Amino acid sequence: MSADTNPDSVVSAQNGKTSVEVGAPFAIEVDHVVKKYGDFTAVDDVSFSVSDGEIFGLLGPNGAGKSTLIRMMTTLIPITSGKARIAGHDVAKEPDAVRRTIGVIPQALTSDLDLTVEENLQIYAKLYDVPAEERKRSIDELLELVDLTKWRDAQTKTLSGGMRRRLEIARGLVHHPKIFFLDEPTTGLDPVSRVAVWEMLGNIKAQRQLTILITTHYMDEADRLCHRIAIVDHGKLVALDTPMALKASVPGSNVIEVQFENAPEDWEQRLRGLSEVTSVQHEGAGMFRILTGNGSRTTTELVEMAAHSGLGVKSLSVQNTTLDDVFVHFTGRQLRDELVKAYAFTMPQRPGLQP
Ligand SMILES: Nc1ncnc2c1ncn2[C@@H]1O[C@H](COP(=O)(O)OP(=O)(O)OP(=O)(O)O)[C@@H](O)[C@H]1O
Ligand SMILES: [Mg+2]
Repeated sequence: MSADTNPDSVVSAQNGKTSVEVGAPFAIEVDHVVKKYGDFTAVDDVSFSVSDGEIFGLLGPNGAGKSTLIRMMTTLIPITSGKARIAGHDVAKEPDAVRRTIGVIPQALTSDLDLTVEENLQIYAKLYDVPAEERKRSIDELLELVDLTKWRDAQTKTLSGGMRRRLEIARGLVHHPKIFFLDEPTTGLDPVSRVAVWEMLGNIKAQRQLTILITTHYMDEADRLCHRIAIVDHGKLVALDTPMALKASVPGSNVIEVQFENAPEDWEQRLRGLSEVTSVQHEGAGMFRILTGNGSRTTTELVEMAAHSGLGVKSLSVQNTTLDDVFVHFTGRQLRDELVKAYAFTMPQRPGLQP
């Protein structure tokens, strides 16, 4: 599948998700957006739209251009060419209207360590002119939502990284934004804290009418949280669809690992003849690894063929294609942490930092 920027396909991609209304107005519209730093193009002609109420993921390795995209959408840096509209407001022409509609969690932790949890929230609420009564109600509700009520008087410097992240998520919502941008909210957190943040975002989404745009380089995070995912690489959008459709677009969408008792000589050949099989690898001791476009159909035929031939099946597992396979398919590279680091290390020289 190629980069998908056609509004028709965007709508059809949403059909599989019951929680996003097809034909809902767009909360975010990014239209042929380019960001250049000198001669270097950090974001290269990216277009996509996000519907009201959708959770949309930008997935890509270090340096892909995810934060640059968020900074442009949230009015922090100018767009070199193209247009972005947030809740219908042009970010270049109506930045104040955009800022009133959005909540932003930047990639770096930015809560004030010398203030208490509640003070961090109070300051933001005051900055956004939330009236005093509403402030108290909103802060109580948010502390509950992010499970920090009993830490409200604790100094922020005493919190763990995961708790601090949760505080910052609460802070980003204190003025009731309609559209919430989160830049790598779980990077650097341990697996338990990551899951806690995911659950919390689910609770928030259930309680508030929010559109969420989240960036990540974790496949499992994008898969679990997002209605649709845009894969970005070297500043370009290389694929856009639902996690399920992205996985289905990779040839051979299931892996079957099966071990037979006393498999005959021609067994590998016969496995190749089963429906939808794209490859068969004999791994010794009666163990075969089969790639197939239809795991359930191949498995049914395989079990019938074994029974018909009087062959026992010692073990059998069917796994789905993961988003890791999707990333490799579209970019030719793995998106694992160690490879991400190696990739970042070998990035070509960039011009100095510029606004
Ligand atoms: N102010 C700047 N001046 C020059 N180059 C920049 C600037 N900001 C970002 N870049 C470059 O633009 C590219 C995209 O950076 P960006 O921070 O958007 O990537 P990212 O996808 O958010 O990566 P990460 O996962 O590391 O946060 C990188 O090559 C980066 O070095
Ligand atoms: Mg970033």
